Amino acid sequence: MNHNLSTMKVSRLLRPLEAILDGEPRPALLLIAHRLTPTNAALLRAFRRRGVRAMLVHPERLAAKETEAAVGLARPDVRPTLDGVEPGIVQLRRREQKGLPLLNPTDSLIACHDKLVTAQRLAQANVQQPQTTLVTGDGPPDHLEPPLVLKPRFGSWGQGVALCRDRRELERRLRALAAEPWFQAHGALAQEYVESGGRDLRVIVAGGSAVGAIERRAAAGEWRTNVSLGGSRHRTVLSEEAATLAVAAAAAVDADLIGVDLLPTGSGHTVLELNGAVDFTHAYSLGRDVFDVAVERLAALAGLAGARTDEHNLLPQSLALQPAPR
Ligand SMILES: Nc1ncnc2c1ncn2[C@@H]1O[C@H](COP(=O)(O)OP(=O)(O)O)[C@@H](O)[C@H]1O
Ligand SMILES: [Mg+2]
Repeated sequence: MNHNLSTMKVSRLLRPLEAILDGEPRPALLLIAHRLTPTNAALLRAFRRRGVRAMLVHPERLAAKETEAAVGLARPDVRPTLDGVEPGIVQLRRREQKGLPLLNPTDSLIACHDKLVTAQRLAQANVQQPQTTLVTGDGPPDHLEPPLVLKPRFGSWGQGVALCRDRRELERRLRALAAEPWFQAHGALAQEYVESGGRDLRVIVAGGSAVGAIERRAAAGEWRTNVSLGGSRHRTVLSEEAATLAVAAAAAVDADLIGVDLLPTGSGHTVLELNGAVDFTHAYSLGRDVFDVAVERLAALAGLAGARTDEHNLLPQSLALQPAPR
């Protein structure tokens, strides 16, 4: 059978059925991103389970007329070159200027992706974090002593994150960084090293609630916990203290859906970083499915019609997972 033809038939059939069930067209959710990652696909499926029409839209397609009646959820990531955010900020700002609703507003996304802005916003909100400062080509920071961590401002996947145990390692690393385009463009962050035994906690915060969490453990011989560097994920119980801290960190940057990474300290936790386009899996669930709870919070926040769970039965998987054309 011709796949496109069957997809078209299904979507034509669905429209009148929706109209009968609803009486009026429901607003849609636009997941604004460059790729249909597993996390983005799982979010779209969860919205659809709630009866919210949801689709992936590339930022460059945002200006199209049919996207205006919808609520956006901004999820552009940092660039793989670690020198900034993926294209789309201009289009997101334009959308906001038109007064169109956007979850994870542009300023919030930038405050997560630029670790210098993250540190400033957390400090303004009195949220606990390691001491952090910007270093440029002018040499070592004057008020932070090793051991400390040097990292790109727009970093991810643990790339370029280096532990400098003493002054010599710090100076050597700074000399090496001088040749890095991301360092030349933005400098790097120097951060107090928090001894945490190669473990951290990633908390998913949606609509002001902690909805999921996982413990990450660094691979043998590695101090960074990133899964992309061989780190492993372990189910965890989220303490009241960690949940409260994660929610406060999300509030400090006005984020609607983010991942808050927490480092354990002797007495509790401190905020390591914020992930504006956070990746997570069903393993983050703390009881109910993390995607269902996240989407419930976001739908409530944005006034998206939901609560009906029958639509996914009408949508074949092939239609549910079509990325929007660029
Ligand atoms: N200040 C720090 N103290 C202790 N560990 C750190 C510190 N900064 C980073 N790390 C470790 O390095 C990993 C990567 O650093 P992070 O700041 O999260 O950058 P990225 O955005 O690349 O993930 C963290 O998950 C953590 O394990
Ligand atoms: Mg990280």
